[in-house]
Amino acid sequence: MTHKVAFSFADGKTLFFPVQANEILLDAALRNGIRIPLDCREGVCGTCQGRCESGQYSQDYVDEDALSAQDLEQRKMLSCQTRVQSDAAFYFDFDSSLCHSAEPQRLAGVVSAVQQVSQSTAILHLDLGNDSPPLDFLPGQYARLKIPGSDSSRAYSFANRPGAQQPLQFLIRLLPDGVMSNYIRERCRVGDRVELEAPLGAFYLRQVSRPLLLVAGGTGLSALLAMLEQLVTQDCQQPVHLYYGVRHSRDLCELPRIQALGERLPAFRFTPVISDADPDWQGKRGYINEHFDSSELRDRDTDLYVCGPPPMVDSIRIWLQEQQLERVQLYYERFTESTI
Ligand code: FES
Repeated sequence: MTHKVAFSFADGKTLFFPVQANEILLDAALRNGIRIPLDCREGVCGTCQGRCESGQYSQDYVDEDALSAQDLEQRKMLSCQTRVQSDAAFYFDFDSSLCHSAEPQRLAGVVSAVQQVSQSTAILHLDLGNDSPPLDFLPGQYARLKIPGSDSSRAYSFANRPGAQQPLQFLIRLLPDGVMSNYIRERCRVGDRVELEAPLGAFYLRQVSRPLLLVAGGTGLSALLAMLEQLVTQDCQQPVHLYYGVRHSRDLCELPRIQALGERLPAFRFTPVISDADPDWQGKRGYINEHFDSSELRDRDTDLYVCGPPPMVDSIRIWLQEQQLERVQLYYERFTESTI
């Protein structure tokens, strides 16, 4: 038996394709040339998520970091885990062009630098050299890096814009004992070869036509640095406000770079927020959404981009719902920072 499925996208396009009974939706979409952004294929990363607008479906496995109980109530689903039991329609909150744009490639880069930029953060610079084809990605997307000397891979957002004539950059959180952290601290050398798969993810900077609120938690700053670079390059005239939350002030990084980018935007504001601040911290404390200006968000249209750990993203989503800020369009990436 075959079911008819419709995928509609943020740009208004709708694509139809047949799905075999009991077939995984993602497999059927790929077979029909619709490349939904994906990463893990295991119901964990949340990259392939959409929302069911009509029809019956079931999901094999959904990790709670990929979709919350509230998401499931709202009929959000993971394409890599969904099977349909009837004709069905699904909505994806990104443009259909993302399904036809750059397919993830497997590449190798060479470490050209590694800098420790705060007590808990390093930046890895990877040069793809002139032999590889140029890597096409969108600011906000990420790459999966294979850690040299191990079988492990980790996902990191690009920290610079696509097409920049410079090595790729990735902000890396330094854990006390993690596979990537130990590599960076103990073995990483200029000239090391690092394999990567990219581009990945459906979090990216859309066409900018409204004021922007950018929110980074920890090394989620990486994706937003790429977006800021892109905004500068495209001469963005909209107001941009970046909130950057970390646990301790010593975790803050790339402040001169943020300032330099901000000076090239006509209306830029920057608010660092420390959740566990020392007594001598003079700035904002607590959680980021405690410092949002709800009256401003109520009175004007705003695109809100959030990249950070799931608790931070979820608290912002709940806050938006409680405040009933219907003029805010939210885009988010919940990344689960590896603990090893
Ligand atoms: Fe990771 Fe579907 S690709 S949840």
